[in-house]
Amino acid sequence: MSGLVGIRLLLLWGCGCLWLTSPTSGSLVIFEDTEALEETTGPAKSLQKRSTNEAMVQVHSVTVECTVMSRFSHTVMTSVALNKANTSQEIFFEVELPKSAFITNFSMEIEGKEYVGQVKEKEKAKKQYEKAVSSGQTAGLVKASGRKMEKFSVSVSIAAESNVTFVLTYEELLQRKFGQYEILIRVKPKSLVQQFQILANIYEPQGLSYVDTHATFLSNELLPLVEKTVSDKKAHISFSPTLDQQRKCPDCDGSLIDGDFIIKYDVNREGRLGEIQIVNGYFVHFFSPPDLPRVPKNVVFVIDRSGSMGGTKMRQTLEAMVTILDDLHVDDYFAVIQFDDVILTWKDSLTKATKENVAEAKSYVRSIRANGGTDINSGVLRGIDMLIKDRQEKKLPERSIDMIILLTDGMPNSGVSRIPEIQENVKSAMGGNMSLFCLGFGNDVDYNFLDVMSKQNKGLTRRIYEASDAVLQLQGFYDEVSSPLLLEIDLQYPDNAVDYLTTSHFPQLFNGSEIVVAGRLTDNDLDNFLVEVIGQGLEESFNVQGQASIVDWNVIYPDESYIFGDFTERLWAYLTIQQLLEKSKTGTSDEKANFTAKALDMSLQYSFVTPLTSMVVTKPETEDGPDSPLIANKLTEEQRQQAERAKPIKMYHRVATQLQGAALQAKQLPYAPVYFVDGDPHFMIELPDRNDSLCFNINNVPGTIFNLVRDPESGVFVNGLIIGDKKIPADGKINTYFGGFGIIHATLGVRLQVTTQAISVLQDGKEVKLLWTDTASLKGPNVDLLVTKDRSLKVTLKGSVKFVILLHKVWKKHPYHQDYLGFYTLDTHLLSPSVHGLLGQFYHGIEYEVTGLRPGESPEKPDATMFTKGHQLTVTRGWQIDFRRDVKNGENVPCWFVHNNGSGLIDGEATDYIVPGLFTAF
Ligand SMILES: *[C@@H]1O[C@H](CO)[C@@H](O)[C@H](O)[C@H]1NC(C)=O
Ligand SMILES: *[C@@H]1O[C@H](CO)[C@@H](O)[C@H](O)[C@H]1NC(C)=O
Ligand SMILES: *[C@@H]1O[C@H](CO)[C@@H](O)[C@H](O)[C@H]1NC(C)=O
Ligand SMILES: *[C@@H]1O[C@H](CO)[C@@H](O)[C@H](O)[C@H]1NC(C)=O
Ligand SMILES: *[C@@H]1O[C@H](CO)[C@@H](O)[C@H](O)[C@H]1NC(C)=O
Ligand SMILES: *[C@@H]1O[C@H](CO)[C@@H](O)[C@H](O)[C@H]1NC(C)=O
Ligand SMILES: *[C@@H]1O[C@H](CO)[C@@H](O)[C@H](O)[C@H]1NC(C)=O
Repeated sequence: MSGLVGIRLLLLWGCGCLWLTSPTSGSLVIFEDTEALEETTGPAKSLQKRSTNEAMVQVHSVTVECTVMSRFSHTVMTSVALNKANTSQEIFFEVELPKSAFITNFSMEIEGKEYVGQVKEKEKAKKQYEKAVSSGQTAGLVKASGRKMEKFSVSVSIAAESNVTFVLTYEELLQRKFGQYEILIRVKPKSLVQQFQILANIYEPQGLSYVDTHATFLSNELLPLVEKTVSDKKAHISFSPTLDQQRKCPDCDGSLIDGDFIIKYDVNREGRLGEIQIVNGYFVHFFSPPDLPRVPKNVVFVIDRSGSMGGTKMRQTLEAMVTILDDLHVDDYFAVIQFDDVILTWKDSLTKATKENVAEAKSYVRSIRANGGTDINSGVLRGIDMLIKDRQEKKLPERSIDMIILLTDGMPNSGVSRIPEIQENVKSAMGGNMSLFCLGFGNDVDYNFLDVMSKQNKGLTRRIYEASDAVLQLQGFYDEVSSPLLLEIDLQYPDNAVDYLTTSHFPQLFNGSEIVVAGRLTDNDLDNFLVEVIGQGLEESFNVQGQASIVDWNVIYPDESYIFGDFTERLWAYLTIQQLLEKSKTGTSDEKANFTAKALDMSLQYSFVTPLTSMVVTKPETEDGPDSPLIANKLTEEQRQQAERAKPIKMYHRVATQLQGAALQAKQLPYAPVYFVDGDPHFMIELPDRNDSLCFNINNVPGTIFNLVRDPESGVFVNGLIIGDKKIPADGKINTYFGGFGIIHATLGVRLQVTTQAISVLQDGKEVKLLWTDTASLKGPNVDLLVTKDRSLKVTLKGSVKFVILLHKVWKKHPYHQDYLGFYTLDTHLLSPSVHGLLGQFYHGIEYEVTGLRPGESPEKPDATMFTKGHQLTVTRGWQIDFRRDVKNGENVPCWFVHNNGSGLIDGEATDYIVPGLFTAF
């Protein structure tokens, strides 16, 4: 909680606001320019008043060029900026790249001089850097950024009226998951760019089965600007909006371009042997045969229910478990074990996943409650025993895979808690006969411990981020490993023709994934380059043989063969380094040292920034200081976790929204989110920083009272009464509205009742009444009211919140309709983090993603899929009216409409928010 406050403090520094800690309450008090707050409702006038420096930097161009050759992607990000000022200025370059990518080059060109980065051993780079730092200089760094990305940022001082060009290159082997490859390009130019371009060329000799693009920031106007040409073996995608097309609105300099540009594709897969490509002395083999039946699995879910799992994590885990159990194949066998310092099992042996058994297991799972310590050792060993015993007793199908899925959020602290001992116990008990998959939930888990333990046992570990979508993360991981197609796969190549082979034995091949093997050829005589793949499938042994031949890129891509150069070699190097880094985590210390040394050698040789190397570039000397080294490192999973742990709030997603929100609030108040309910009760959450809004209706009978805001900590409550039409209209459609509000500040002892006729304030047993028919203002010690005749009421509760209530006056003789009210939230920042209610729950920010735009019921209102709070919802593009600026006519605001009374978007159901009276405060 205090973390929330801390963040604001941090962000608003230097924004012209003054934050102080109040000595009495320990909470924060803000002294701000009240003028500025007015602007929340006013027109967007302060937008032009940017920092003068910023306007003096002109971004000439931002170009992202991505070339993919057989899954190996090579991306170059270039940015050219001009310092228009007559003094030197610091210019920033920030790039986000996928965490699975390696930076391979970085350069800056300043005043005709080029500064090129060099890949050095990390330790050496660090020494050079530390020497520089001790003389008071700074360095550029790479930081974690979200789950999938890391951020490279550097700044240099540029002389007056000079240009700077930054170029960053990174490479990555795209991994097939859920039957597709994904290219993720994150673009956040922050200002308008004269020439903006994203260019992607995909070359897949196997042929492309489909190519999809979408972007989180693409509105209907920008969507047609994405150009896509797909031919059999090549796809070309480009997106280059003009300066004006980038604008958020005709007169502002905010950019719409802000988010992820995503390309997904798959290749044609024919033949059981897969695709072998030989180019320039290296070969690569992609193996993912089509149409294999799945191998049944015997899975034991070992679930941590120690005290730390309590609350949201436990709820999300159980919710995910229920879906996962439903998804079990009827041929699968399963067991559920829960542990804290005591181990409890649902049944003593594995059970066939029949409908009845799954139903029974689901109700067992729902009964799990968090409590106690963490005995991972006994939990996992119990699962292993069950599998061994059932195997011995021949209860499990002969051809099937045995696996344990362990979910934990903490460190072992009960029973055997020495990590090497647990790893040893598990490894010897599993004896290479089963797979262990681990899910590390949250930031307190020892990722490395789980990672090593799973790798020792033919499995892998995934982090589950503590966030609203944890349920989807859990299900997603399960889906990845739920359909094994082959076991113990061996890929064999002629010994005498190949050396430096990457890993060629894999414990399992899952549906939707792909196995990649690469190697160097020692022999140019490829006449009998025989390839054989052996594995265990469902019915019989899988065994295919074939002969590979050299791919003639000149024939496949006659005009472009020159660009392919050494990609197979770099793909091979990338894969080899990745595998060496993984291997260096397990084994004896000698083996570890050996793998590490090799990985380092290759990282240097191929100029990859890996966890063992750094990119060093020397910043040129300026009047501000001498030249100094900048270093870019690669983060390890542990470092990412540490960075996240250091954040004051666990849900970093929310932090990101707040970061953006607060930073914007500091200078551009019109960009603060707005929450309101108006009309036939239409709830609206406007998120200007995303140029997006969410909306939903709440339907109920007149007389119902809903809680809108509920914050027991600060004592603020707002309830609203539903009213209906005077009589039922001819079309039979009953409209409902809010006709009254009760606003309570329990701590200050203030009660405010607002109806369509009057406003009354009750404090210390005294009542003051105001009428809508007069413009009036009331200033009290605890509450300020400002009534604008027949229009609006602005309420400021001391030290907490500002609301505006709008009066909608309907023609007196209207046959059906009557006057009603709208409720708008202006400023909520002093409410506590636990604020809730139909509107209040959104004051924390809301995380959601919308994808899959498709035709809806009516042509102008497309449907889409929204992911939020762990749910997947169908939403419809619609319009709502925002009356803040124009009480009579309002302004149309497009929004994503959530159906069924906001179901899935709001916590619980709408009826959960019904309260007995206007002044109910609990
Ligand atoms: C720099 O420009 C500012 C106005 O943009 C002007 O006031 C100032 O005199 C200029 N300084 C120099 C050294 O030219
Ligand atoms: C790195 O970039 C510079 C400047 O663009 C270029 O001259 C150099 O060849 C690149 N190095 C590598 C290894 O690609
Ligand atoms: C900066 O670069 C742009 C585009 O490359 C060029 O048009 C302009 O003349 C350059 N300006 C200066 C001052 O070098
Ligand atoms: C927001 O996006 C809509 C299209 O969805 C567009 O019409 C509008 O101009 C944009 N507004 C701003 C402020 O960027
Ligand atoms: C593999 O996944 C695809 C969809 O990605 C699905 O159509 C197919 O049925 C799956 N095969 C098996 C054996 O589960
Ligand atoms: C693993 O399986 C093999 C073959 O079935 C068996 O001989 C061996 O004892 C098993 N290992 C353990 C630790 O159970
Ligand atoms: C390291 O690997 C090399 C082969 O690549 C081997 O000759 C050497 O014995 C290994 N050293 C250790 C300490 O394992």
